[in-house]
Amino acid sequence: MTEGANAKFQKRVFSGIQPSGGLTLGNYLGAIKRFVEMQDTGIETVYCVVDMHAITVWQDPEALRRQTRELAAGYFAAGLNPEKSILFNQSQVSAHAELGWVFNCVARMGWMNRMTQWKDKTAGKDAEKASLGLFAYPSLMAADILVYHATHVPVGEDQKQHVELTRDIAAKFNHDYGVDFFPITEPVIEGAATRVMSLRDGTKKMSKSDPSDMSRINLTDDADTIAKKIKKAKTDAEPMPDLPEMLAGRPEAKNLVSIYAALAGQTVEQVLADYAGQGFGSFKPKLADLAVETLAPISTEMGRLMQDPAEIDRILGLGADRADAIARPIMERTYEILGMVRSRH
Ligand code: TYM
Repeated sequence: MTEGANAKFQKRVFSGIQPSGGLTLGNYLGAIKRFVEMQDTGIETVYCVVDMHAITVWQDPEALRRQTRELAAGYFAAGLNPEKSILFNQSQVSAHAELGWVFNCVARMGWMNRMTQWKDKTAGKDAEKASLGLFAYPSLMAADILVYHATHVPVGEDQKQHVELTRDIAAKFNHDYGVDFFPITEPVIEGAATRVMSLRDGTKKMSKSDPSDMSRINLTDDADTIAKKIKKAKTDAEPMPDLPEMLAGRPEAKNLVSIYAALAGQTVEQVLADYAGQGFGSFKPKLADLAVETLAPISTEMGRLMQDPAEIDRILGLGADRADAIARPIMERTYEILGMVRSRH
């Protein structure tokens, strides 16, 4: 992790995941697995279930409550330790929404209009009917990060542009108010699987919102379902090449090799060294075994934790108190910088 312009800020990691559906293998490899690795680096790690982001599209309240707990259970089952990391849900720390509003006044409409995720989500639809919250979404994400003065944000590749926007917002705020208050946060996009693709179409991201369940592996899938989805995953007829460059133009093959590498904690080069020359008929069962071996214990543990939702809520509440203790003074200082009178006791 680089220090860059942030030498004066204590290193702190922040990241979040939306509770807007089940967790996918993409969320696990691109985010949660890496969050867990970072909690052992000695840097403070703050992780969030971003429920306020989820409501930018309508959510059934009962489903949202369940998915919030299920996502927390997913974090814990994957190895997140609430003694080492802070885990909480966003709506319990009101400074996120407060700073989000401030940033709505800093960010420009043109910046939001250029966000590819906004363009993708409204493509082919009437953008006039999208919620204002969906448009402003990246500004709340910037607030999530900057209300902790986070210096590093581990994300999958699809979130890179949002973290870059966070840097622009921090720089504009600092410039407009003549301060050096917000850090210029670094995205951390590392590992073999920063962009896990659909199992049905190697040019599309694996996503919880894809209508085809066969396109993704869910963290709650049982062993048979995982094996079946991998067996049916689209591939080509060529054998495995010797070198990573030779996977260019073979998106489905590249995706399966990258998934294997990320699950095994290897590089793509190492995987190819073991499998070069073999067809996908023999590689897929190995990949399925590895996926089941890694994901089945997570899914079982999630199920166990979901038996006791009150305990999940308790840990989220404790996490929120710890998060609030960091965020509140930063928010108060922001109000002072802005010129707001703060006279309540
Ligand atoms: P979300 O909920 O869509 O995804 C959560 C995390 O999972 C990563 N991810 C993937 N990585 C690799 N391959 C995939 N197919 C894949 N699908 C998802 C995402 O990159 C992300 O890291 N806007 C964010 C949530 C957010 C946030 C934040 C993140 C809100 N505030 C502050 C970081 C910091 C989102 O919608 O992620």
